[in-house]
Amino acid sequence: MKARTCLAIVLAAGEGTRMRSAVPKVLHAIAGRSLIAHVLAAIAEAGIADTAVVIGPGQEAVAAEAQRVLPGATAFVQREQRGTAHAALAAKEAIGRLAPDDVLIVYGDTPLIRPETLMRLRAPLGAGAAIAVLGFRAANPFGYGRLVVADGKLVAIREEADASAAERAINLCNGGLMALAGNHALAILEQISNDNRKGEFYLTDAVEIACGMKLDAVAVEVEEDDVRGINTKAQLAEAESVAQQRLRKAALDAGVTLVAPETVFLSADTKFGKDVVVEPYVVFGENVTVEDGAVIHSFSHVASAHIGKRASVGPFARLRPGAKLGEGARIGNFVEVKQSAIEAGAKVNHLSYIGDASVGANANIGAGTITCNYDGIQKHRTEIGDEAFVGSNSALVAPVRIGKRAYIGSGSVITANVPDDALALGRGRQVVKEGWASRLRGLKSLGKKKAHSHD
Ligand code: UD1
Ligand code: CA
Repeated sequence: MKARTCLAIVLAAGEGTRMRSAVPKVLHAIAGRSLIAHVLAAIAEAGIADTAVVIGPGQEAVAAEAQRVLPGATAFVQREQRGTAHAALAAKEAIGRLAPDDVLIVYGDTPLIRPETLMRLRAPLGAGAAIAVLGFRAANPFGYGRLVVADGKLVAIREEADASAAERAINLCNGGLMALAGNHALAILEQISNDNRKGEFYLTDAVEIACGMKLDAVAVEVEEDDVRGINTKAQLAEAESVAQQRLRKAALDAGVTLVAPETVFLSADTKFGKDVVVEPYVVFGENVTVEDGAVIHSFSHVASAHIGKRASVGPFARLRPGAKLGEGARIGNFVEVKQSAIEAGAKVNHLSYIGDASVGANANIGAGTITCNYDGIQKHRTEIGDEAFVGSNSALVAPVRIGKRAYIGSGSVITANVPDDALALGRGRQVVKEGWASRLRGLKSLGKKKAHSHD
């Protein structure tokens, strides 16, 4: 049988006023990724070929984020926020042009949705239903639409504001995702009116309309965590916690040692090799890869970084975007690395800043070394050769090159290139004055005696 074609319409036009934020709701993030990126990733993984994203006027940032995640997605602007059905119809042109077998409507604020759940929702359409809705049993159903089931059939969805007391007691809730048979989708959506408390065009009315047309509506029940909608910062935090639990479990299942999983924060795209150990209290921002056998010690923060095989990071290390550690490299406590390659076997063990630099294989960077990469206007690079030895508390003023196997004396301020195998010293020469301290003490005791003789 030929696979059914599908158009996914992602509704993302709402401002999300209850988030109390200047940032559009769907651009808030959980697990290091925007809400809409989570939704689009699930759609792509479910093998759905066409996606339309409905944004509000002036929400170019939302369209740009959608493009970044799913370059094939088309954006449609809903001029006024007049409800979820009105939003879906903003993509009417795509429904008409593509004439898909299935139209899948997904809310941009339900980031925990999984690809397998999207496939389950579409399944009843293949079996002849005109409409399928994701339902879940809510611990606290307040605010969600309720699924009204009669004689085992889904007959209506009632919004909180319009529900009777009996309907409010229903705990089977609308997950906010709907699949419509493509050949009925427009006919159903265009019949929806705004005859309700809020005066909005509710997508949820599609169920009653389909039933009136003698078409079949089906509820597909899933876990609450799959369809948690985010309207407030508290719900954002709850969704973060669910996402973290899932990511930690996936990492453990893949063989990563998380000593205290509940204290480790991951991103949706964090990648681990084999036999990686992550100690308690480590945070991974987006785009981090950790190769086999690496160890990340406690209280480290890592983002957009690559950690090579058997490398060691922390405790208390910060790897910022563009940090790239080679095999067996060591980054110790209170060390910050940004936009720098630390080649195999190199060590930066204590209290350093390495930015816009390359540190050659097996080089040793002493405690307190700083690359002075910024002159107040521009950033400049520092290049340190293989096996170089930089003495403690050195300042390397970029742009500057330290040759292979070169030595830098401790406490140097290096402003000129150092050739291979050379020693560079850039500090005041030490002055020693023999007997100076005892002469001082002698003067002091004389002074005290004089003071005594006065009283
Ligand atoms: C909606 C459902 C409710 C369901 C809940 C699940 C409706 C009428 N209600 O309620 O039954 O239980 O989700 O989370 O569908 N949007 C637009 N344009 C608009 C209005 C909304 O694009 O004019 C977008 C929003 O950005 C959001 C999504 O649609 O991503 C859902 O809208 P929201 O206002 O959050 O609906 P809920 O009140 O949560
Ligand atoms: Ca919502």
